[in-house]
Amino acid sequence: MQNSIDKFIESIKLSIASKKIVKILVNTPKNKNNDLKKVVIRIVDIKNENKLSFLYNHQTKDITKNYNLEDACLQINSLLNTEFQNAILYTIENDIRLQISKKNKATITTNKPTFTKQIETEHNKQKKRFVSLENNKYLQSLGVATKNGDIVQNMQDKYKQINKYVETIDGIIKASNLKNKKSLSIVDMGSGKGYLTFAVYDYLVNTLKIDAKVTGVEQRPDLVELCNKIAKENKFNGLNFSNGSIESYKTDNVDILIALHACDTATDDAIYKGISSNAEIIITAPCCHKQIRNQFNVENELKDVVKFGILEERQAEIVTDTIRSLMLEAYQYKTQVFEFIADAHTHKNVMIVGSKNSENNTSESEKYFEKIKNLKSVFGIKYHYLEKLFNREK
Ligand SMILES: C[S@@+](CC[C@H](N)C(=O)[O-])C[C@H]1O[C@@H](n2cnc3c(N)ncnc32)[C@H](O)[C@@H]1O
Repeated sequence: MQNSIDKFIESIKLSIASKKIVKILVNTPKNKNNDLKKVVIRIVDIKNENKLSFLYNHQTKDITKNYNLEDACLQINSLLNTEFQNAILYTIENDIRLQISKKNKATITTNKPTFTKQIETEHNKQKKRFVSLENNKYLQSLGVATKNGDIVQNMQDKYKQINKYVETIDGIIKASNLKNKKSLSIVDMGSGKGYLTFAVYDYLVNTLKIDAKVTGVEQRPDLVELCNKIAKENKFNGLNFSNGSIESYKTDNVDILIALHACDTATDDAIYKGISSNAEIIITAPCCHKQIRNQFNVENELKDVVKFGILEERQAEIVTDTIRSLMLEAYQYKTQVFEFIADAHTHKNVMIVGSKNSENNTSESEKYFEKIKNLKSVFGIKYHYLEKLFNREK
């Protein structure tokens, strides 16, 4: 019997090495009253390492455990020696069945494959990333990836964010008037260490094959120097970083303006630059909303809504971003506000996206300015910084 079990396990190892495995089923308990009814085993990718995930199906519960190949084979060997009399290895080439008789005689039979395609598991789905880790030199230089293609400890959230941004921006471009444009000019305001600037550039140029010119604008000279050095090392010729403030940056012919987590009113400076340079798309993820909060003076039914610090802070975020979205609408941008990533990864997860409205209906603008006026009056706000930039604070 052991000889056949060894052969069966050898087939499992071969099917994994040749990437033909679909799954393994261990079933038919020797004792009908056994609490464990069957075990389903699949390959999963955990932190870039192949593991075998065992789903133990008990009478009343399921338990999952992941093993490396060696331990998994020991487990299968033990299950077949003690509890089960049947096992099937499903591969895309054939089904290999091991059957153990009551007299502990084992036979192996080979049949046509039940599955001709591999099953995509949740773990494996997660591998589909917009930003690849493999040989990714800029992510290594930025301290996100290791030379082996792993994510640096504590950088998992940052990596997830980077991927989600690229995925989101990809979707926004594909749904916009820019979808068929072969060259794009993009400005990333307040680019910081450039994680997202690099990823967007790399994706547009090297994956979508778009002739993209991407500029990061950043007030910290040390970050600009570092990012320009990494861009040069990666031969990212259309990517450069400019030292200076968002307010003083000269924008012309910008297709997409991005400002992710630009502090407080820097987001408004960026939106103003985007609208006044007629950018097709404006993408912002605001952070630290201080300007409006300092002006709250509520003397109506909403007084209690801003009584407690944390609620006042949240309310300030909502009012600030609502006025931003209304301003974008007033300047003929179709606007969306959404959470782009689960807040387990970052609290700064609200995105405001404006896409140029092709109808260009300026007669609608007053309606939005009126809405802003009314909202300000409810919260006793004198002006929103973005209105001031447009000389509309009255
Ligand atoms: C929180 S970081 C975000 C960096 C990057 N966008 C990201 O999401 O990873 C904000 C960056 O914006 C820069 N910044 C803030 N206000 C700015 C301004 N008015 N002009 C230029 N850069 C600014 C800061 O120096 C900082 O590096």
